Amino acid sequence: MHVRRGAARDRTFIRELSARVFARFGDYETTLPVMAGRPEVYTLIVEADRQRIGFAMYTIETPAAADLLAIAVLPEWQFHGAGKLLLDGVEAAVRDCAGEAGETSVRLSVAQDNIPAQRLFERCGYRYLPEEQGFYPGGQPSIAMWKRLLPGTSGKTVRP
Ligand SMILES: CC(C)(COP(=O)(O)OP(=O)(O)OC[C@H]1O[C@@H](n2cnc3c(N)ncnc32)[C@H](O)[C@@H]1OP(=O)(O)O)[C@@H](O)C(=O)NCCC(=O)NCCS
Repeated sequence: MHVRRGAARDRTFIRELSARVFARFGDYETTLPVMAGRPEVYTLIVEADRQRIGFAMYTIETPAAADLLAIAVLPEWQFHGAGKLLLDGVEAAVRDCAGEAGETSVRLSVAQDNIPAQRLFERCGYRYLPEEQGFYPGGQPSIAMWKRLLPGTSGKTVRP
């Protein structure tokens, strides 16, 4: 399994995977491929046996704050470590952008009933921001999570 930067040729994959895993939350099969084409949005693709099996999309709002917009793995490839690999890739890229001296952070929203995703984020050191709640277009309540990244560390976290 390996992670690489996304490219325009990956948008069909992003659309098809979004249709499979995000349909209940809203029309993400339309919006995510469009967002992937924006210059401020970065995409990572995880592949296994030269096949795409997942993607992550994020923005770096300032060197000190990144937003994870989406992360998804093909259902038949879930529970094999691809989600963690993508998250590690996002965090490494965000750290690179912040530079050696810069402390930075990643923020995300997750549906309150999305236990597999919450478990992944918790295991990777993300903490809940209970005051930041919202709703998906599909009506599901969401909650924000956040992780501080220290410069020059790999996955090391500090409590908010
Ligand atoms: C959330 C999501 C991206 C996680 O991806 P994933 O590839 O399944 O994540 P991982 O494999 O890294 O971790 C998931 C579990 O697999 C386990 N796992 C990882 N590698 C493993 C292996 N080699 N063998 C067995 N289990 C393994 C992990 O320990 C973890 O278990 P836990 O949650 O009980 O601790 C995936 O479930 C998904 O695409 N969901 C639908 C889209 C979605 O909801 N996205 C999040 C929106 S915020």
